[in-house]
Amino acid sequence: MCGIVGYVGDEDCANLLVEGLRKLEYRGYDSAGLAVLGEKGLAVVRAKGKLSNLEKRLGEQPPRGATGIGHTRWATHGKPSDENAHPHSYGGVAVVHNGIIENHLQLKESLAKSGHKFSSETDTEIFAHLIHDEVERGLGLPEAVRAALKNVRGTYALAVVSENHPGMLVVSKNASPLVVGIGDKCNFIASDVPAILAHTRDVIYLEEGDFAVITKNSVQLSDLAGQKLERSVRRIDWTPTMAEKNGHKHFMHKEIHEQARALTDTIRGRASIEEGDVFLDGCHLDKKLVERLSKIQIVACGTSWHASLTGKLMIETLARLPVEVDLASEFRYRDPLIDKNTLCIAVSQSGETADTLGSFREARTRGARGLAICNVVGSAIAREADDVLYTHAGPEIGVASTKAFTTQLAAFFLLAVRLGRLRGTISQEQGRAHLQALTEVPLLVERVLKYEEQIKQAAYKFSQSRDLLFLGRGPQYPVALEGALKLKEISYIHAEGYAAGEMKHGPIALIDENMPVMVLAPRDSATEPGVNYEKILGNIHEVRARGGRVIAIHSEGDEQVPRLAEAAIPVPQTNPLLMPMVSVVPTQLFSYHVADHRGTDVDQPRNLAKSVTVE
Ligand code: AGP
Repeated sequence: MCGIVGYVGDEDCANLLVEGLRKLEYRGYDSAGLAVLGEKGLAVVRAKGKLSNLEKRLGEQPPRGATGIGHTRWATHGKPSDENAHPHSYGGVAVVHNGIIENHLQLKESLAKSGHKFSSETDTEIFAHLIHDEVERGLGLPEAVRAALKNVRGTYALAVVSENHPGMLVVSKNASPLVVGIGDKCNFIASDVPAILAHTRDVIYLEEGDFAVITKNSVQLSDLAGQKLERSVRRIDWTPTMAEKNGHKHFMHKEIHEQARALTDTIRGRASIEEGDVFLDGCHLDKKLVERLSKIQIVACGTSWHASLTGKLMIETLARLPVEVDLASEFRYRDPLIDKNTLCIAVSQSGETADTLGSFREARTRGARGLAICNVVGSAIAREADDVLYTHAGPEIGVASTKAFTTQLAAFFLLAVRLGRLRGTISQEQGRAHLQALTEVPLLVERVLKYEEQIKQAAYKFSQSRDLLFLGRGPQYPVALEGALKLKEISYIHAEGYAAGEMKHGPIALIDENMPVMVLAPRDSATEPGVNYEKILGNIHEVRARGGRVIAIHSEGDEQVPRLAEAAIPVPQTNPLLMPMVSVVPTQLFSYHVADHRGTDVDQPRNLAKSVTVE
């Protein structure tokens, strides 16, 4: 959950490191720092708080040097402070680290016994001491880092520089992401691609246990034992601007508005309307394999878990295959019933979420086949999967997930149609109809954006609420959960998503004029209102009868629901299983404008980080 960047070449690199860290702030932003190797040796500058504090401390004359590493932190051990900020250095060795050293206390104790003094509360600092001692024993930097890593148990993306080894970066990766960027007479490292896109699009995604010695002209890959490795160089097609805000006030706003394009990119090349079938690149799900499946087990966290609840409905409806959905943090330790006839699907935008990765590994250890639905190419979960279904949402920088959610739904729908066709539960004709409807969803999502002003007015009206309930039924129930998560994580208003049918079993006691209720109330389909719609009308009456204030999301043309709501937001209609991709957009915009109106840090909400790579 921290961001690392590094450079080795011929140019002074302090400003380049800061610019790279700026693109990684979404990975953590409670402190930042950099270390540069120059003629005067090692210079380390660190600052608590946002990157702008580091820039102030660097001033007009940042340290000069053509080898350097930088870090933006999300605290796991030791509070946010100057002393706990990375890089940590000792005796001319500086390190930056993303991950957790599980045996750091024992190592610290043993180092202290041999006279080491520590200046921070972090686990990371021991790397500098361990490596320094090995260098003192006469080892070269690569060997010193290998020797140090042999003592360490835990997760890391680690980058090291040393005064005795100018022009060299040594890095290693275990469970936390790290990429190497290949430049022209210079090379880069970073936790994520946006940090180096302005300089190169040719990257190597390091794998678990990879080790690299990097100079301006070479990248020598090996494993920890020193065995040489080869890794493919991937060409990243994201332009630097894609990772910028494109004129939007916040990344989140840009990403909400990008959803039509993201959905189109996710569907493109996969939905064959002519065949009434789906081509899932990266997935080897054939008839023989699918026929032996007894169930699907999905593991995910947060927004990805909400998407998975909808994915369950899609797969069970179209493919008639039992689907279980677990919170990854719960699944992993409940001794789950998994065997070789299970398909385990790990859903993760970042592909690095520790709970999801751990659960995915657990399921696969028990014999399950592993399919990943991820947004980041080459991410840890994607690399460990047997099959990968990438959402092509592009970089999602805002901590609050938006386009990842809708593209995950599109991926699930494609998978559900494919499974249905392989299992013979849907005909070619039915497949054609489903895929035709899916290809129209991006246009419907784009159409919702024209109601943004109306949504903003509703948001401003309710922006001072202390609490807010979201209600939905059937496919709209996960949307209610997702809407509540969006609102709470960026506006800090307490919000809860509930199955509307559950209101009478307790939550209705909360209803009064101080408890606004957002109701997801589209018609079930274009042809008929449907049972969920009829029932949710009843729920709206129950809320109103107790003085509750209703904000309703309803189908365009519906006249019943708007009459019952203080604020009504229309959405275009599509099939019930596809409707969540459309009805979630007003909840995203509502939450965004509430938060923006309240002045919270929409892209980097307090206490959160974009990728939760610790348990
Ligand atoms: C969603 O807005 C949150 N940022 C969070 O719940 C997120 O969905 C969760 O941490 C899972 O992340 P992942 O999809 O990268 O695994």
